[in-house]
Formats: sequence, structure tokens, C-alpha cells
Amino acid sequence: MGKVYVFDHPLIQHKLSYIRDKETGTKEFRELVEEVAALMAFEITRDLSLEETVVETPVGPAKANRIAGKKLGVVPILRAGLGMTDGILRMIPAAKVGHVGLYRDPETLKPVEYYVKLPKDVEERDFIVIDPMLATGGSAIDAISSIKKRGATNIKLMCLVAAPEGVKAFNEAHPDVDVYLAAMDEKLNDHGYIVPGLGDAGDRLFGTK
Ligand code: URA
Repeated sequence: MGKVYVFDHPLIQHKLSYIRDKETGTKEFRELVEEVAALMAFEITRDLSLEETVVETPVGPAKANRIAGKKLGVVPILRAGLGMTDGILRMIPAAKVGHVGLYRDPETLKPVEYYVKLPKDVEERDFIVIDPMLATGGSAIDAISSIKKRGATNIKLMCLVAAPEGVKAFNEAHPDVDVYLAAMDEKLNDHGYIVPGLGDAGDRLFGTK
């Protein structure tokens, strides 16, 4: 079964409190989501392996560590995942970015991919799939099925806030994918919103409410 990690770093929790606040406007909301995504990227990459190298400092040779040639891909789930992308790229500028956009056909309830574009070398990359809200789990489940179908095997899911129902559904669908969160909330309400959550992440990021 996939593991679930909640990052309780004080900076992440502090910024998340402003993200949740309904008085926080679009500009500040967007900046804070980016900042939390950057801090989470810092935590989620803890297991990257290093290789030793030698560099010349102005004083002489120094043994130093560099990331051991890992290829990373970041995949925002459209549209709210876009709000976390730049924060992650600030920490991992060499990562390639894929995009996944899906909706559920209201009649068949099957996921319809309206946009999927991934880096060419999918099989060789480790992917971080991002979406601020893990509510029912439906979009994350479908998005990850869609990138697995194209050859991705090493995947992590990173969200800001999750509902226990969504985490459970996600773990059952993708037991090989660990989940990284800034907060695990109480529940989903009847409209599919996370309680207490932060409202509609996409609308708050893009000012479309
Ligand atoms: N998507 C959101 O943006 N917010 C929720 O609370 C649930 C799903």
C-alpha cells in the first residue's frame, strides 16, 4: 500500500494557514501556493541520490556532492495543478513538465483525456504529479492511470490538502504511488469540497469565482 506523508514543517503550515483564509486574495493566494509547492519540493526530493565529485574552489580542490543524474518530470493536473508548477521548478529547474487534462464523461462516467503531453523519455523519468486538492481522488487516479499507460513507472503524488476519502480511494487504485501532503483534512462535504479545505483551488488561483 502506498504511504502517505504530511509535511508538518512550520513554514509550510504557516503559509497554508493564509492559503486557507478566505480573505486571502488571488495574487497572494497564487504566490503562497507557489511557495508551499517549492517547500514541498524540497522535502519530496530528500531521497534523491548524490554522487561525489571534485570542484576547484578559489582556494583548492573540494569534494562535493551532486544529484546523481536523476531525470525528473513534473506533471500538473489541469487546471489547478498549474498553480504549483513554478514553485517546484524553482527548486528543480532541470525538470521537464508534462500536462494532463481529463474530465469524466457525465454519461459513461469514464475519464476522457482532453490533453496529455509528456516528456518523450517517459520510461526513464521519475514523476511528481501535482494537484492542490485530493478530494474524491477521481482526477488524481485518472491522471496517474493516464501517465502509467504511457510508460511512467516511478510516480509520486503531491497535493496541498486531502480528504481521507480521497486518500483511501487513491491508495486502493495506485498502491505503488506514495502521497505527499501539506494537510490531511476532516472529510468531503455533499458537494465534493474538502472540509475545511480552502475552497475551489482553481478559482482562487485564477480569479474565476
Ligand atoms: N477541488 C477544489 O478545488 N476544492 C475542493 O475542496 C475539492 C476539490
